[in-house]
Amino acid sequence: MRRGALLALLAFGAFVAFSFLADPVASAKASKKSRKGKAKSAAVANFDTKLPVLGTRLSEFPAGPGKALADQACLNCHSADMVWQQHLTEKQWTANVTKMIGWGAEIPDAQKDALVAYLVANFGPENTKFAPVVSRPVGR
Ligand code: HEC
Repeated sequence: MRRGALLALLAFGAFVAFSFLADPVASAKASKKSRKGKAKSAAVANFDTKLPVLGTRLSEFPAGPGKALADQACLNCHSADMVWQQHLTEKQWTANVTKMIGWGAEIPDAQKDALVAYLVANFGPENTKFAPVVSRPVGR
């Protein structure tokens, strides 16, 4: 009789343990918690707080006769980094500027050649000046 009660108690205990393990809500909560914990420790470990925050340190166009025009016509939509990364021929820069005008860049016809000359002089086929800024995400 005592042995039977012991077996029944063991069976009940196993049932309780199993239903806790198999409870999808409880296990989802538990895994959410552990993911949160991981994200937090990654933030502490990965980012140097002395780095600039992402998107806050942008490059400028190099000095020269076309800088004012490029500043006014190209920086409305993207940073100068987009241009610093290129190494295009005159033909390619002409096509690129024509494309940007099509997308909304405002460049008077009379100044288009001067802008292309400035772009070729600074970001021609030999250009290897681009260096990406190492930054950290907002809030980290
Ligand atoms: C009206 C908005 C706008 C203006 C103004 C603009 N661009 Fe762009 N530019 C874009 C967009 C959008 C892209 C594509 C971005 C992407 O692919 O992530 C782009 C991409 C580029 C690229 C990368 C290669 C490519 O063709 O996708 C270069 C180079 C570039 N622009 C140069 C310029 C220059 C030089 C000027 C000034 C004359 C300029 N942009 C002005 C919108 C603009």
